[in-house]
Amino acid sequence: MQTEDRWILELANELEHTGRYGELRRYTQHGEVSVYDHCLRVAHRALALSRRLRVRVDARSLVRGALLHDYFLYDWHVPDPDRPLHGFAHPRIALENARRDYALNRIEEDVILRHMFPLTPVPPATAEGWLVCAADTLCAVGETFNRRRVARALLKMLPKGVSGHAR
Ligand SMILES: [Fe+2]
Ligand SMILES: [Fe+2]
Repeated sequence: MQTEDRWILELANELEHTGRYGELRRYTQHGEVSVYDHCLRVAHRALALSRRLRVRVDARSLVRGALLHDYFLYDWHVPDPDRPLHGFAHPRIALENARRDYALNRIEEDVILRHMFPLTPVPPATAEGWLVCAADTLCAVGETFNRRRVARALLKMLPKGVSGHAR
């Protein structure tokens, strides 16, 4: 494991030991990816993007914000009439949960609250916020259109006997 990945995991473990972070393992985000794994991926990608684009960032706040950006703590696939529309409301819910459990700085709050821009109208105010926005979109697309799932779906569409694979 690379040093950077180990560091991201250490920060996730720290959150797990001091709050409800472990709950993210129980919820699915996209496809077969848990919210926990999704947040690790977003943190990794945001950090990689900052290097590639040579953006000066507070790396610790970038990673912690990314790890907490989807800290909404419910299964968004289960409909709940009392809950506002997930896509629009979950950044605010994640921020409120994270504020309750952890001491956040201004950058971490910006990352969490603004990560759904432009679906939510106010853009991030920090470079870290923009990077997590981009990393989240890239990860969501990759997770939703996971190659294995697409291949499985395509195989199901083929008439019987054509693919030579058991369905
Ligand atoms: Fe999100
Ligand atoms: Fe996300």
